[in-house]
Amino acid sequence: MILLPPEQNSPVARRRAAAADGTPAEIGRQQQAVTIAAMAVELRESWSIGGVDVPTRIVLAPMAGVSIQAFRRQGRRFGAGLVCSEMVSSAGLEHRNERTFGYLRVSADEHPLAIQIFGSEPRAMADAARLVEAAGADIVDMNFGCPVKKVTKTGAGAHLLEDPELACRVVDAVASAVSVPVTVKMRRGLENGSRACLELGPRLVEAGAAALTLHPRSAKQMYTGEADHALTAELVALVPVPVIASGDVTSHATALTVLERTGAAAVMVARGAQGNPWALREIVEGDEFAPTREEVAAELIVFVREAARELGEQRAVGFLKKFYGWYLGRGRFPKPFKQELVQLATTEAVVTRLFAAAPEAAPLVERLDAELPAAEDEVVLDGLPISLYGGG
Ligand SMILES: Cc1cc2nc3c(=O)[nH]c(=O)nc-3n(C[C@H](O)[C@H](O)[C@H](O)COP(=O)(O)O)c2cc1C
Repeated sequence: MILLPPEQNSPVARRRAAAADGTPAEIGRQQQAVTIAAMAVELRESWSIGGVDVPTRIVLAPMAGVSIQAFRRQGRRFGAGLVCSEMVSSAGLEHRNERTFGYLRVSADEHPLAIQIFGSEPRAMADAARLVEAAGADIVDMNFGCPVKKVTKTGAGAHLLEDPELACRVVDAVASAVSVPVTVKMRRGLENGSRACLELGPRLVEAGAAALTLHPRSAKQMYTGEADHALTAELVALVPVPVIASGDVTSHATALTVLERTGAAAVMVARGAQGNPWALREIVEGDEFAPTREEVAAELIVFVREAARELGEQRAVGFLKKFYGWYLGRGRFPKPFKQELVQLATTEAVVTRLFAAAPEAAPLVERLDAELPAAEDEVVLDGLPISLYGGG
């Protein structure tokens, strides 16, 4: 019989355990099972992180300036099994910064949801984690991968990859502060070719991390070159918790290849899902799906309205500009249309223009609106300004 820790339950991990066990006859039987398992890597299979059930093997990535609630709830609708907030500053939470508290809005249709925090001070990170738990997140994720100078110069983000002692103290403090599982997302290391993540990963698990996400590029690389998932496979072999593979997953085929080659429990999708929730559906289900103009318009209209509600009108106008280009790559909109939307001064004007370009989108929008949970279902932290943020 093949016994596996319940966490490391990917088809490929099962296959590895099978290969490591038994007599020749048993091995023969297992190899047959292995071939079947290899053919049947199922992206719709559920798995779990420290007892939190994740219904598919697709995780929607944390992305600063992108992963607002509207993005996350849309991601869940299109098949992401787990969604993540963008990174939230523990210092911002400590100073009761109103905008920072806005990142802690959680709504009923997002679960399971990880809220990601960053910082390098164990006590401040523990306090931030308590707030994240109180806000209703299912998982507290920690950012040990951000390559941006503004973050690394404070000792946070990818800098922690080079300071294992402090990294472990941060994880230990956060894991001790909350009862939900805590996880870490990291890059391979600071410098090109670094293997720091392999030394650090097992130590973070010992310190209390219930899962690890690896984006196997160095901080120096930013987004150049390719994600080296051979490193992800090495990490999977080293730790007894689920590993999520992040980097360059944009299609069903790449998702399967990465899961097959690494034994990771799930893949994470970031840039591929920007303004393209249909990519998530394609990755989960395997069928190419070209949305109609009406479908693109309807999703964008709901997204625009949700962003305005969440961020407030003024901030939403600027925030949304990048999304027009991302969305309007589909649906056969005329080229100048994107430029036209970017120049409009209010979100209501954008919505009006989209309805004019795709009148048949109206019933689709109505249906999507009906599925949104009631505002009362949002968590409001007692005495904290979260409910004031963005008029929501
Ligand atoms: C615009 C943008 C913002 C990002 N912000 C975060 C973040 O806040 N936290 C984090 O851990 N990773 C962040 N990332 C990294 C992604 O989560 C992901 O690891 C990386 O983009 C590789 O995945 P991809 O090839 O699917 O894009 C960001 C990436 C992008 C493109």
